[in-house]
Amino acid sequence: MGFSNVYGVPGLGKRGRARLIDGKAIAAELRAEVATGVAAFVAERGWTPALATLLIGDDPASAVYVRAKIKACNEVGLGSVHHHLPADVARDQVLALIDSLNADPAVSGILCQLPPPAHLDPAELTEQIDPAKDVDGLTIASAGALALGLPGLRPCTPAGVMRLLAATGVDPSGRSAAVIGRSNLFGKPMAQLLTMADATVTLCHSRTADLPVTARGADILVAAVGRPEMVGADWVKPGAVVIDVGINRTEDGLVGDVDFVAASEVAGAITPVPGGVGPMTIACLLANTLEAAERRPR
Ligand SMILES: NC(=O)c1ccc[n+]([C@@H]2O[C@H](COP(=O)([O-])OP(=O)(O)OC[C@H]3O[C@@H](n4cnc5c(N)ncnc54)[C@H](OP(=O)(O)O)[C@@H]3O)[C@@H](O)[C@H]2O)c1
Repeated sequence: MGFSNVYGVPGLGKRGRARLIDGKAIAAELRAEVATGVAAFVAERGWTPALATLLIGDDPASAVYVRAKIKACNEVGLGSVHHHLPADVARDQVLALIDSLNADPAVSGILCQLPPPAHLDPAELTEQIDPAKDVDGLTIASAGALALGLPGLRPCTPAGVMRLLAATGVDPSGRSAAVIGRSNLFGKPMAQLLTMADATVTLCHSRTADLPVTARGADILVAAVGRPEMVGADWVKPGAVVIDVGINRTEDGLVGDVDFVAASEVAGAITPVPGGVGPMTIACLLANTLEAAERRPR
């Protein structure tokens, strides 16, 4: 389940060999799982877990993201509480709102859409969230739990990649993995999740020497850089699993960090952009919101 052959991709021609990892289909499966879990939770505990979303200012892209998250919550039966604050809101007022959401038993997850307006510190806002409700998995406590291999809420995009691998039948144990990009949001937690799954991980960045050689040594290659089609066919080990996290808007439309057509000739399985990693992020946010509610003592 969850993948089809790249022969089916319009415009790719017949030369591609890699299996296509269908993030849309795998995300739909996860959403269905969450919907079942929410229904069971409500039946057992008698209350509906809810995600609180916090949008500050009028950035159109942020508004679109938040709307998509609220819609996704409603589709799986999770509740949602939305707060939209003006762009010039005082720092203390935002922190007080997060405190009130931390204390609200009806709220199981809190998402503060980033980036906030310039006068607010995104790290401070994130840190104000109770780690038990940190469904983005970005607080220091959540990052620390992951670093120590302890239970906790994991950042949504790398958690989504782990689910893509599982759904494709890829067990990272004993495999070599290369993650290109070391951001706190994605690259570092990705490397840690792969390490926890017993892969041997190389975490690469802009100062990595001989990056194509390192990439070519990996059974699992994950690219999260933000450079259109940087990873060419000669970066890919034959048969490797290639996960493209990049989202780049170009004149030709949305493209990833991997040259999809060229890499498909060499890889064993590959995610497209769009329709690969992207759909998993919101699905994992829903899963985290349910998990946060389930972790709460009765
Ligand atoms: N699908 C999703 O839901 C999702 C979620 C998150 C991110 N993304 C996408 O993933 C990409 C990365 O996001 P991010 O937040 O992790 O980005 P980021 O914070 O900008 O980090 C980029 C990383 O790439 C490294 N890098 C930059 N140029 C490089 C080069 N020439 N060679 C090797 N490494 C290089 C940087 O190295 P240094 O540390 O040395 O500067 C940095 O570690 C973006 O396109 C973003 O839109 C997608």
